[in-house]
Order: sequence, then C-alpha cells, then structure tokens
Amino acid sequence: MSPEPPLISRGASAPQDADRSTVPPDGRPLAEQPKWRRDFPIDWPQDEYVSRRDLVKFICLTSVAFVVGQFWIVGKSLFGRREAALPALAIADVDELPIGGAKTFRYPEGSTPRLLVRTGAATFVAYDQQCTHLLCPIVPAHREGMGVAASERGLELHCPCHNGWFDLETGRPLAGPPRRPLPRVSVEVRGSIVYATGVEEPAA
Ligand code: FES
Repeated sequence: MSPEPPLISRGASAPQDADRSTVPPDGRPLAEQPKWRRDFPIDWPQDEYVSRRDLVKFICLTSVAFVVGQFWIVGKSLFGRREAALPALAIADVDELPIGGAKTFRYPEGSTPRLLVRTGAATFVAYDQQCTHLLCPIVPAHREGMGVAASERGLELHCPCHNGWFDLETGRPLAGPPRRPLPRVSVEVRGSIVYATGVEEPAA
C-alpha cells in the first residue's frame, strides 16, 4: 500500500517550510508530476518567497514609474515654454503703427516671419506669423458670428486658410483647426522704439 500523500493546507496544520521543501503540492512523487514541474523542481517555500518578492518589486517599480511620469508631465506643462536668450533688436518705431496695426519682421535674423501688433497706446504683442495648423500667415482681424457683430468683438488673429482664430493677448487658439498656441516674441518699448527681446520656444 502506497504511503498517504502529505496533507497540503494553508491553515494552522500547514507543514513548516522545512517539511514542505521539494514536496509537490499534490504530494505525488516527482516521477508522477507533470513535465513542467519535473523540469523546474523549485522548492515550494522558495517558490512562494520568490513570487511574493517579485510581486512587491513589480508594484514598487510601477508605482515609482507612475509618480515620476506624473511629475514629468506637470514639469513639462509648467516649464515647457522657455524663453530663448537673444540680443534685443529694434523692430519698429512706436508711431509707425496705429492701434490695431501690424507689421512683419524677422527675429532673430533669418527666422520665420513674425507679426508685431499694436494693441494700445504703448502696448504691443508679437507672435510667429505662421499659423500652428498648416503654417498659413495670420493677420489681425475681427471675428463675426455667434450673435456678435465684428465691430463689437475685440481684435483677434485670423488665419484665412481654414478660418482659424487666435487670442491676440495670449496667442491661444480660439476657433477653427489650430490646437497649439502661437509661439510668442517678447517685446519692449524703450522710448520711441519697439524692441524684440526674446522668443518663447513652444513646448516640445
Ligand atoms: S493653416 Fe491656419 S487654420 Fe489651417
């Protein structure tokens, strides 16, 4: 009569680790075990220990990766727009443009065209002149529609190619296909001259 297989239980009567060493869970001799268990005869306690340790390691690593990823996304959104250090360049006389008037310039030399717009007596804004949708040139314009007459709506930046609109003060897209804001050029009024002083690089 063959010996009774050892009782396998996780309760109070479970065998000590030393007793469970190399004993298959069903108690049958190794020759009767499936091939995969004969190929990998790992001691049972060791097997459980490795599994728990690997699981804890996996949870810790994925948690750390998740937290690092969140910080990276927040950091990119907060600091993604950097200002490139460039020498100041005179780009217009203050009296050259009426309020609402605009002119193109290149800054730095050889760059894509930029657009300077006079927004008040002593205030100017400047952006890339290329629309962030498909690079058509933008112009200052009043938008009609939604029950508001064009004359009653403030000046905005318009891309006529696909009717895209941008906020004049921030460069953010307001309507139409564009989804990204216009890269901004910093400007300063010094006396009667308007200077470009830096280019805000869009987030990568
Ligand atoms: S290129 Fe400006 S809206 Fe399409």
